[in-house]
Amino acid sequence: MTAGRPDLARAGLRFDVGAPAPGAATITLDRSQRRNAMTPGMWHGLAAIGQALPPEVRVVVVQGAGPSFSAGIDLRLFTPEGIPGESLVGAGDPGFEDWIASVQAGFTWLRDPAIVSVAAVRGHAIGAGFQLALSCDLRVLADDAQLCMKEPALGLVPDLTGTKDFTDLVGVARALELCLTARTVSAAEAYELRLAELVVPGAELDGAVGDLVAALLAVEPAVARATKELIMQAPRNTLEQQARAERRIQAQLQRFRMRSQTEPIPAGEDQPGDAT
Ligand code: ACO
Repeated sequence: MTAGRPDLARAGLRFDVGAPAPGAATITLDRSQRRNAMTPGMWHGLAAIGQALPPEVRVVVVQGAGPSFSAGIDLRLFTPEGIPGESLVGAGDPGFEDWIASVQAGFTWLRDPAIVSVAAVRGHAIGAGFQLALSCDLRVLADDAQLCMKEPALGLVPDLTGTKDFTDLVGVARALELCLTARTVSAAEAYELRLAELVVPGAELDGAVGDLVAALLAVEPAVARATKELIMQAPRNTLEQQARAERRIQAQLQRFRMRSQTEPIPAGEDQPGDAT
């Protein structure tokens, strides 16, 4: 089913619940004639999808229509002509940082422990497009994928939440090199740098993503969520803290599972796992 949201269509987004399988949803950046260049409207549309995600959705696929994942910010925003109905808030505006927070909201929710997010990347993922792929938990790349953190070359820092996971994955030195040189990373190098879980021939991208989604959906929802909570806190925890978290989350999970076998759990009630 395709959710009927004309505002999303105007923002250049498609949101298909139940694709590629029941329990999943697919977000498609749908402005292929501009290589899925991104606007504030698109970023706010992404945030709106995250805020109203149907509770049955446990896996979210993010992809681009056409040959590119995304060519990053729509460069017309920087021209005097601009884009009708779209504008950037200026740095001189007192609300500048709040406005950035509002567009970052389109990217942060993809890390929510209630879902697993998968970026399916073919062709270019540049700047904001690369940051969107980095916001997903997992990345499957077509072998023609080309990743580039272009922001510093345009006088910007990456500010769509792309520096955290990027640096955690590739390390400080490599993240710095890739940001400051705006060097393009091939799919093969991305795999070596742990920026991709899987690289496949372009014709096999959809099938590979479908197989991954099926495997992710095969895990019991509460178990998937608790495992993601646990794994996400591992990098910042000491061994002692992580061992404690394993004990606590295991206890919560197993009590939740026992309870759910004997009585229905009210919708919205806390699932096992927490971020503490
Ligand atoms: N903003 C606006 N329009 C764009 C953008 C963009 N970021 N990227 C592509 N387009 C448009 C092109 O102007 C072109 O329009 P036209 O058909 O009216 O001439 C159309 O999309 C197709 O683009 P081509 O360049 O012809 O496609 P090609 O496949 O040869 O190249 C590529 C794709 C490499 C992505 C190239 O378009 C490009 O370098 N784009 C700019 C990338 C960029 O610098 N993005 C900013 C990153 S920084 C940030 O996101 C904050």
